[in-house]
Amino acid sequence: MKIISNPLALKEHLKDIDKTVGFVPTMGALHEGHIALIKRAKEENEVVVVSIFVNPTQFLAGEDLEKYPKKDEADKKICKLAGVDVLFFPNASDIYTQDEVKICAPNVRGYVLEGATRPGHFSGVLRVVMKLLNIVSPTRAYFGKKDAQQLNLIGLMVKQFFMSVEIVPVDIVRDSDGLALSSRNIYLSNEERKEALKIPKSLYIASQLIGKNIVHTQKIKKAMLEVLAPLSIEYVEVLNRDFEVIKEVEVGNTVILVEVIVGKTRLLDNIWL
Ligand code: PAJ
Repeated sequence: MKIISNPLALKEHLKDIDKTVGFVPTMGALHEGHIALIKRAKEENEVVVVSIFVNPTQFLAGEDLEKYPKKDEADKKICKLAGVDVLFFPNASDIYTQDEVKICAPNVRGYVLEGATRPGHFSGVLRVVMKLLNIVSPTRAYFGKKDAQQLNLIGLMVKQFFMSVEIVPVDIVRDSDGLALSSRNIYLSNEERKEALKIPKSLYIASQLIGKNIVHTQKIKKAMLEVLAPLSIEYVEVLNRDFEVIKEVEVGNTVILVEVIVGKTRLLDNIWL
């Protein structure tokens, strides 16, 4: 496995490669969720590139940038074992300059849900993903459905900027107790982790109701809020896959999203129906 930190050196390395390239962007502290993306990229491409970069522009003032978990050596081992060909490991100064050309998240879709609780977050995500995609020029790039709004906005960016990459969504990987894997789960105490299990439980309740043909979004949201109380709920939403508000669940075109704060940890989860 080659480890490269300079963007131009990576571009040079990949320049004449006449092979399909699968790309998995991450912020490190890799877990089975990330590994699922890497495995999928390995299955579908001849060369796999993973990036590890804790992108400062997607953290708002006062968020956990400084204490975001760093596990550089373990991450390198994981990538090597997973058969990654190139690990891109830049510093902030390799990616950003003082006076930047910026792209911004769209006014509506970038500022609802997580974008409302973290205004500006998705502009930072899109800025870095645009740069990373331009550096790697992959055939396909892999993103988790866990960050559903991020995935949706990246899809929009690629479409609206006529970029030549296929965005591949990958299913959520969960722990055996049902909690969606996240690099931030390590912040949870045992007690908080138990509380956090209300999140997958609320999504399970929603899917049960829908299985019984109860499809009114207000009823579903009410049942979910009952399960989630007394957690600090940022939002519970039932949307179509274009992230528009709907009155009734349409199976095959619905996503139910939850964001709550447990202790000081922000946790996201969702199901696609
Ligand atoms: P990070 O949180 O490290 O996640 C990297 C990728 O792994 C994202 O596409 C995310 O959706 C996916 N992922 C995380 N947990 C997952 C799980 N339990 N199951 C499936 N996929 C999961 O998301 C980011 O980094 C950053 O915003 C990034 C896109 C790298 C831009 O900085």
